[in-house]
Amino acid sequence: MIKSIEKFIDKMPSLPATVSRVMEICDDPATSPADLNRVVGLDPVLMGKVMQLINSAYYGRPNKITSLVRAIILLGLNTVKNLALSTAVLGNLSSGHANDILNMDGFWEHSLCTGVIAKKIAAASKIDPKRHEEFFIAGLLHDIGKIPFTNCFPQEYLAAISSSDMNRKPLHQVESELFTFDHQIVGALVADHWKIEGAIKDAIEYHHRPEEYEGENRQLVYAVAIADYLSLYLERGFAGNRYPVEPSASIYDSLGVSFDQLESMSNEIKNEIEKARVFLKISQ
Ligand SMILES: [Fe+2]
Ligand SMILES: [Fe+2]
Repeated sequence: MIKSIEKFIDKMPSLPATVSRVMEICDDPATSPADLNRVVGLDPVLMGKVMQLINSAYYGRPNKITSLVRAIILLGLNTVKNLALSTAVLGNLSSGHANDILNMDGFWEHSLCTGVIAKKIAAASKIDPKRHEEFFIAGLLHDIGKIPFTNCFPQEYLAAISSSDMNRKPLHQVESELFTFDHQIVGALVADHWKIEGAIKDAIEYHHRPEEYEGENRQLVYAVAIADYLSLYLERGFAGNRYPVEPSASIYDSLGVSFDQLESMSNEIKNEIEKARVFLKISQ
């Protein structure tokens, strides 16, 4: 069965060359806004999105910014990198891969909410603000492995969702029983296809089993695991799973956050979701 999934992923378009280049140079600590300006300037679509983002309600700046390099300085290299990535990924997925098995509006609402909460957790655990956007993107993409499932095995996946519902079992466990692999594994294959490495791939691969994760991106993996649970708890959107497993206390402790503290931020989270919708819209 994994063969059909691999075939499907192989056929997914790869990331545009500029996007790969942006990701590559942003990972180099010596990169300056001027370097990034040269690369983004080659791609009119991406350039348009950078300008649209800095002048959007998401940033709420009083004056219109018209220079690309200025926009890059204000947004920061990481945000531009993440915008490039989410533009490529969402551009890819919104064309032709939608289906009735998972309601795509519900799916993206769940993804968006998980991204917003992951970013809130990053702020609450005093993680370098330069990295906050990465938490958002990791949350946004964490369930990406469900897309090949619904396309390759629509009937079987629908049965997995109902079985999860009827037996009150987490969806990823039912997937493992029915297919021998789950959407974390499939998500990691999608990440490989798009050359998404490091923390974001780790979060995709370990968000339902943070306790097993032993790599160096623990904070991000843990934050996404908590955010996923919380967005189901807050009932924002729906991605097929009604029975999430709550991450253990040690996962909260190592980030220095508590469930109650995050729950008390639910109004703030709702406001942030509205703002983040702008980011998602620009990306599509
Ligand atoms: Fe998941
Ligand atoms: Fe999820």
